[in-house]
Amino acid sequence: MNVRDLIDLGDFTLDDWHKILYLAEDIYQDPMRYSSALHGKILATLFYEPSTRTQMSFQAAMMRLGGQNIGFKNPSSSSISKGENLKDTIRIVSGYSDILVIRHPKEGSARAASLFSACPVINAGDGGHLHPTQTLTDLFTLRRVKGRLQNLRIGLCGDLKYGRTVHSLIRAMSRFPGNRFTLISTPELTLPDYLVKETGAQIERCDSLEACIGDLDVLYMTRIQQERFASKEEYARQKGVYILDAEKMRLAKPDLAVLHPLPRIDEIDRAVDDDPRAVYFRQAEYGMYVRMAIILLLVTEQPDGAVTLLPAREGEHCANPSCILEAEPYIGQKVLEEDGGPRRCAFCEHAL
Ligand code: CP
Repeated sequence: MNVRDLIDLGDFTLDDWHKILYLAEDIYQDPMRYSSALHGKILATLFYEPSTRTQMSFQAAMMRLGGQNIGFKNPSSSSISKGENLKDTIRIVSGYSDILVIRHPKEGSARAASLFSACPVINAGDGGHLHPTQTLTDLFTLRRVKGRLQNLRIGLCGDLKYGRTVHSLIRAMSRFPGNRFTLISTPELTLPDYLVKETGAQIERCDSLEACIGDLDVLYMTRIQQERFASKEEYARQKGVYILDAEKMRLAKPDLAVLHPLPRIDEIDRAVDDDPRAVYFRQAEYGMYVRMAIILLLVTEQPDGAVTLLPAREGEHCANPSCILEAEPYIGQKVLEEDGGPRRCAFCEHAL
């Protein structure tokens, strides 16, 4: 591993992904072998947004490696409620810890945090942008239940616009040969264009779950992200459009794998939980082993590489209202290394 921070899986090589997944499998097979691997080390979890799985699985992962945890699960219980900014918070907490995990409602917040941190930073979800440790969990789950990460037909259903787990997953799975994607969403909640173009993935669109479920090897269901809508009315129009139930499961292949990052609201009927093709609860459990592997590698290998962020040109400014720069403008505009396409914000990746 060459890069210190896990912000975007694209910063890492495929070999790095495999290294994490192999180590996670080894830990899963024999967790006691790793029970003192990080004795004396401290993980900080800074959760500016609610979480059950991600925060607790990181904390459990650190404890199962013999380390300890500090942090908050609600910024109102920290000095952020007194007006402390992201930069100061990260500088302080990274001085107390060996590795830091951040979830924040603003896109690009984890990348920004990495600029100010004295220790490795892990992105546990930055607004509607990315959720790379969920994606590694999804890859681990697919390897275990499907036996492969290639030549899969993957249906992505629900909120593909704001669903950060979907954004990270389509990027990741398009790195493996032969994968095809079926996007199942309303026109309002379809995948952002920049992702469609960037991944170059084989994509089909379908507006009915019944019409395409029979072709799928994997169905990745997602929650409609109520907290990212501008109004309750807009959310109400999207809620309940796609619901996976036992009747639709009858149309699916016998070896379909149904994944969901959870929490589930009403998009999967509870009757589906007992179907052996429903793997979302196992997926959540696997997340802890994957996070054990990530923490262990970043803390013990201490890679010191960083992603190159370029200075902005005169007048270049990110106009995305969900970008971290909107809330914390002192960070200053930075730009991603050019890849032939439009210049993009180094934090939220929106075109400048
Ligand atoms: N999958 C996931 O991120 O769940 P939490 O929001 O509970 O962490």
